[in-house]
Amino acid sequence: MIRTQGLSKSFSGLTAVDTVNLQVEAGEIFGLVGPDGAGKTTLMRMILGIVDPSAGSLTVMGNARIESIKKSIGYIPQKFSLYRDMSVMENIRLIGSLYGASAGAIDERAREILSFTNLLPFADRLAENLSGGMKQKLALAAGLMHKPQLFFLDEPTTGVDPVSRREFWQMLYRLNKEGMTVFVSTPYMDEAELCSRVAFMHEGRIVSCASPEQLRTDYPYKILELTIVGRQIKQALQECDLIDINAFGDKYHLVVADPVQAQHSVRLALEKAGFAAFQLEPVAPTLEDVFVALAGEAA
Ligand SMILES: Nc1ncnc2c1ncn2[C@@H]1O[C@H](COP(=O)(O)OP(=O)(O)OP(=O)(O)O)[C@@H](O)[C@H]1O
Ligand SMILES: [Mg+2]
Repeated sequence: MIRTQGLSKSFSGLTAVDTVNLQVEAGEIFGLVGPDGAGKTTLMRMILGIVDPSAGSLTVMGNARIESIKKSIGYIPQKFSLYRDMSVMENIRLIGSLYGASAGAIDERAREILSFTNLLPFADRLAENLSGGMKQKLALAAGLMHKPQLFFLDEPTTGVDPVSRREFWQMLYRLNKEGMTVFVSTPYMDEAELCSRVAFMHEGRIVSCASPEQLRTDYPYKILELTIVGRQIKQALQECDLIDINAFGDKYHLVVADPVQAQHSVRLALEKAGFAAFQLEPVAPTLEDVFVALAGEAA
């Protein structure tokens, strides 16, 4: 569906996207995952033909010129781009009319799409009065009007509440099941888990690209999860043979090569520092652990 070769983009000296080689196959939910400024939007916009590459080449659905296949493609930009002073239904009708469908066909499709996205009860509400999650569902609905085969979504759930995020992903899954290929960017690791394959992006480069399962299997270390209350934990563990310590909410993930030896030395060090109550146990690496390690290697 998508092939890029050596795709790069520089903005006056800053390399936003650096020699990206990607292959996305039909039927995938392909996730582009990375922190703020990693280059996700720039990469997506190059694939969409909105930004001109500085170097490299690409094809989308076998075409080097995206104009010829625009009708098969849907796109939700990172910033809400619909009319705030128009209602949900008016926005949808306007989008429908841009694709040259008849009024009757537009109405029918609009109802179908609004019902699919659970927006039908809000058809008359002004877009500006929708909640964040509903706004994103409206953007999804608008993008679906012309039944695209390949759908690009740029951080569609950033700032959206957890319940709406889950609903949104259920919709993506249903659309994917019906045959739509999805290319989605996200900063959330729980969403990365939901993709068939994930490309981790860091400072413009793809540092790894595989299924979530494969990424975890390839992770070269072990994780000990430390649950503890107190301060200066890192300082207490200074003498232990740890590859890395990462705070995960109220827990710590200790990255180690030898979990048995590390468990022993960490227990001793914490007891020595006066910590009486803590829990230390081996856990499977999360995608976040994997990403932190890959980002560290790339730096
Ligand atoms: N038009 C532009 N002119 C100059 N620099 C730009 C432009 N667009 C993007 N950049 C820079 O390129 C880098 C990558 O930006 P990009 O928006 O692609 O990242 P991103 O991964 O989408 O980030 P976010 O998660 O914040 O949306 C950033 O350093 C950004 O400041
Ligand atoms: Mg972005």
